[in-house]
Amino acid sequence: MSDLRVGIIGVGIMGAGHARYLTEHVDGAVVTALFDLDGPRMDSLAKELSAKSGAAINQHASVEALVSDANVDAVIICSPDGLHPEHLTLSINAGKHTLCEKPLAPKSADAKKVAELANASNLNITLGFMRRFDPSYIEMKKEIESGKYGKVLHLRCISRNVSSPTATTAMLLTNVAVHEVDIARWLLGEEFVSMSTVAMKRTKYANDQLQDPLTVLAHTESGVLMTVDIAANSTYGYEVRMEALMENGSLEIDNLGGLSISYDFNLPPRTHGKLYENWMGRFEQAYINELTAWVGSIKTGVRHPDLATANDGLASSIACEMGVASLK
Ligand SMILES: NC(=O)c1ccc[n+]([C@@H]2O[C@H](COP(=O)([O-])OP(=O)(O)OC[C@H]3O[C@@H](n4cnc5c(N)ncnc54)[C@H](O)[C@@H]3O)[C@@H](O)[C@H]2O)c1
Repeated sequence: MSDLRVGIIGVGIMGAGHARYLTEHVDGAVVTALFDLDGPRMDSLAKELSAKSGAAINQHASVEALVSDANVDAVIICSPDGLHPEHLTLSINAGKHTLCEKPLAPKSADAKKVAELANASNLNITLGFMRRFDPSYIEMKKEIESGKYGKVLHLRCISRNVSSPTATTAMLLTNVAVHEVDIARWLLGEEFVSMSTVAMKRTKYANDQLQDPLTVLAHTESGVLMTVDIAANSTYGYEVRMEALMENGSLEIDNLGGLSISYDFNLPPRTHGKLYENWMGRFEQAYINELTAWVGSIKTGVRHPDLATANDGLASSIACEMGVASLK
């Protein structure tokens, strides 16, 4: 079967990352079109990709032009969060399979509309919740489901960015904690019924619109508590950690992606190393695995069961909106 021809909307950190992963690491796909408001950025990426793949790359002047390009079979949306509903709607209406970066929408009403459109289409619409494809989360899910450690009681998460000059407090929920919401739903198979936040002493690096650090508290239907300690301006490194405290043990994903199991009085070996600067280093393999699953699903017509759906995007938007409402 010929290569899946992919067009990318928004070629900042994520769009350029997906373009490079597709070109260098994913079989059966080729980038054939780009659109970004930043012309020089788009041009430089187009030249880089075409030198690597040998493919001609159409540089478009609008989202509408990219989604209606006959040389595009599937679209990846990496524009800013608030534009996802509009860009995904255009892509679905043009009949294109689409991987939309998270979140589906910062507001659940917008997420609901676009999820309905996605569900009514016969297209592969996927949300960019790539932690589902990270080896450590896959292993944690297997251990939880083994039944060896009893039930999950508490998910204790840490999420730290080096610097977030333009973040707002609401974005810590809709843009950051949305990842923890999705991975917790995937690990537990449950929805969240509440979300609130606790503030603390602010770092001097927080802008005026931002309460940083912030702790998020959320309960699932069965009563599991998830806490997410977010620091958007850690200065020292990027960290994503998660501990599942269970009835008979503790499963912990560390900042470098190792899974440690404390069980039956036995401590796991300690890990150490240099922290990543951002998500691109820590989750590189997860992005590549996610893209491989998405391309494979479109080509075979059989959806990979771990790809996040529009309904998953909607559920995480609904949960995070409860957190945003609690800020008022
Ligand atoms: N899955 C993940 O782990 C992950 C990680 C980081 C970011 N993201 C998501 O990816 C998306 C992009 O994030 P980023 O870090 O690449 O941001 P970025 O700021 O680096 O890139 C965004 C790009 O979109 C372009 N853009 C702005 N308005 C546009 C428009 N109307 N049409 C087309 N392009 C437009 C900008 O010029 C820029 O190049 C966000 O929604 C973010 O939440 C996901």
